[in-house]
Amino acid sequence: MKKPSYKCSKCCDTGWILIPQEKSQPLAVGCECRDVEKVKNEWKYSGINVEMTTHTFSNFQVWNEASQRAKDTATAYYTDFSEVRKERRNSILLCGQVGSGKTHLSVALGLNFLKQKIKVVYMPYRDAITKIKQNMLDHEYYTRTISKYQLCEVLLIDDLFKGKINESDINIVFEIINYRYLNFLPIIVSSEFSIERLLNFDEAVGSRIYEMSKDYVVEIEKDMRNNYRLK
Ligand SMILES: Nc1ncnc2c1ncn2[C@@H]1O[C@H](COP(=O)(O)OP(=O)(O)O)[C@@H](O)[C@H]1O
Ligand SMILES: [Mg+2]
Ligand SMILES: [Zn+2]
Repeated sequence: MKKPSYKCSKCCDTGWILIPQEKSQPLAVGCECRDVEKVKNEWKYSGINVEMTTHTFSNFQVWNEASQRAKDTATAYYTDFSEVRKERRNSILLCGQVGSGKTHLSVALGLNFLKQKIKVVYMPYRDAITKIKQNMLDHEYYTRTISKYQLCEVLLIDDLFKGKINESDINIVFEIINYRYLNFLPIIVSSEFSIERLLNFDEAVGSRIYEMSKDYVVEIEKDMRNNYRLK
């Protein structure tokens, strides 16, 4: 007869291990596989998907001046994080040239924080904004989604202001950024726009992001020579 196969042989997927007691009912203790499940759920909640787990610091090659600068800034931010996270300047901004590794480094930071049990939420700007706008009338969805981005320990906004933007996009971004600004909650921002353009889109949003990430800003010059895909 074939043995039943369990994901966890210790608890046979019940989540509990029974420890026999001499004079009473067996004692039930939670199995360690629950922690694994918990971590998996936390990662799922973060929105960082499996394809992105190759975006690590060790996979990031230093191949030109810009990549050196970007990596140095991201690693410095990582090292300083516990010291600066409650400060005014507790965030990082990676902006400029497409394909220069901005998402790669942002995700590398996110993955490292998750490993330290810091609750990171990944916000793919374009998709997230589109979905929020589609559900504008669903008050519960709107509040739930915005709060997720407002309240998490670290918010990673990937490709900020990508695509056409209008006033309602800016209002949504403002609601999220301003909350985080007021409550000293860090953001990791990647955007293909320069700091100047970010400020021009909307000064209220741009200046808050800039103030928060002043100590860790990387602006990569728009030049094909900074595009890793064309290397
Ligand atoms: N310095 C680098 N070392 C290794 N891979 C890189 C580097 N820079 C970019 N990449 C890879 O090139 C692709 C584009 O990078 P990405 O981070 O998406 O660029 P951006 O967000 O700046 O547009 C990704 O697959 C990324 O992993
Ligand atoms: Mg990107
Ligand atoms: Zn188990």
